[in-house]
Amino acid sequence: MDYKKYVKIVEDWPKEGIKFKDITPLMADGEAFKSAVDEIVEYSREKDIDIVVGPEARGFIIGCPVSYSLGVGFAPVRKEGKLPREVIKTDYGLEYGNNVLTIHKDAIKPGQRVLITDDLLATGGTIEATIKLVEELGGVVAGCAFIIELSYLNGMEKLEGYDVLKLMSY
Ligand code: PRP
Ligand code: MG
Repeated sequence: MDYKKYVKIVEDWPKEGIKFKDITPLMADGEAFKSAVDEIVEYSREKDIDIVVGPEARGFIIGCPVSYSLGVGFAPVRKEGKLPREVIKTDYGLEYGNNVLTIHKDAIKPGQRVLITDDLLATGGTIEATIKLVEELGGVVAGCAFIIELSYLNGMEKLEGYDVLKLMSY
């Protein structure tokens, strides 16, 4: 499917100089969203995934339908101060701004095979931090799946040695 026709490019948002790739039109189209989720599910099927992990907030939108379809659980990675029980945390840089991500300490059992999902791979800061959290808990990152990659921001450099699916690239 040509997913790019469902992406709206917004100039200078949220800051001047940034061309925001808005995938809400893709999500709003039942056929396109189902096709995108199904592609990620197909990619994951032979990877023996035990649990899907997605970083707040847009990683939830992709990860939850994928985990539902695979019949496995979903563990949220959240910004600091959002998870109620004991967490581990890590700093990360973003295309714009930076932040702290956390995961519940018991979200993943050692040896579990994890699929990480997010809408976008930009600088790779978010996925790098998410991988770090998963691996610190003893999880095995079996795959990473994104709807969009901004290849000019070189996020793939942070994913060397990992299995990655991207549905479209700019
Ligand atoms: C966006 C996007 C990815 C991340 C990609 O999330 O959803 O998670 O940036 O950028 P990176 O590869 O440079 O880390 P954002 O932190 O804006 O928050 P949101 O998902 O809560 O909207
Ligand atoms: Mg995000």
